[in-house]
Amino acid sequence: MDWRYLAVATEAVLRAGRLQKERYASGVAVEYKGEIDLVTEVDRACELTILETIRGRYPDHDIVTEETDLGHTGSRHVWFVDPLDGTVNFAHSYPFFCASVALAQDGEIVAGAVFDPLRDELFTAERGRGAHVNGRPLRVSQAGTLIESLLITGFPYDLHQRLEERLRLFYRVMGKARAVRRDGSAALDLCYVAAGRADGFWEEVLKPWDMHAGRLILAEAGGRSTRLDGSALGLSTDGIVATNGRIHDALVAALREELKPALV
Ligand code: IPD
Ligand code: CA
Ligand code: CA
Repeated sequence: MDWRYLAVATEAVLRAGRLQKERYASGVAVEYKGEIDLVTEVDRACELTILETIRGRYPDHDIVTEETDLGHTGSRHVWFVDPLDGTVNFAHSYPFFCASVALAQDGEIVAGAVFDPLRDELFTAERGRGAHVNGRPLRVSQAGTLIESLLITGFPYDLHQRLEERLRLFYRVMGKARAVRRDGSAALDLCYVAAGRADGFWEEVLKPWDMHAGRLILAEAGGRSTRLDGSALGLSTDGIVATNGRIHDALVAALREELKPALV
């Protein structure tokens, strides 16, 4: 694999993160994609700078990015871009957000970078070469049971329309874990599992740009991610369970208890 892929992903998220840090807490114009689904001028500015970075090096690659539909040419290389993951946090000056960029080659994620500009933490991974935060190797936690585990979850923007359904899983897992957090940035949530700061994460629906960089970082740190029922994840929008590996089956089993009617 070309070592420059990760360098480009890293440059892209660092540039976006710089913009986010400059504009953080200064008040930004907000538009609504849905009742609780926001996009700010900073999301758009970050997207522009990330697209420029990728296209400057790889004009022939496809790019799937949150705020703009760019279409596909059928390239074997597809970049997945979340210019600002944690937009609601950002819009409220809640300090937990990042930029996330991943590259898939022939359908397999090969490089990923996630940057948290407020903590100055750069999470990176290349397939087969480990995961790092600011150059230091990452390793998942050792927790072996749900009752010893700190878990994280998130809720998609259709929450108001499907409140009871979404809260059923939360309720079920809350009753089995040491604690469950809802931090508001799926990409960072996955990196926190990779770093051993949390033991597992699940969310019922994530977009490809939310999860692919974080999934590779987690896998390279020794963790595991699957669909909610434990089957293999692809590159499309899907539910995700992501853990240190040791608690994976237990978390999937807890979710399946609640999802059974829908899954079977
Ligand atoms: C959202 C965040 C949030 C998750 C949502 C995502 P955005 O991404 O990752 O944690 O719960 O499902 O859509 O809109 O801030 O890029
Ligand atoms: Ca996102
Ligand atoms: Ca976003």
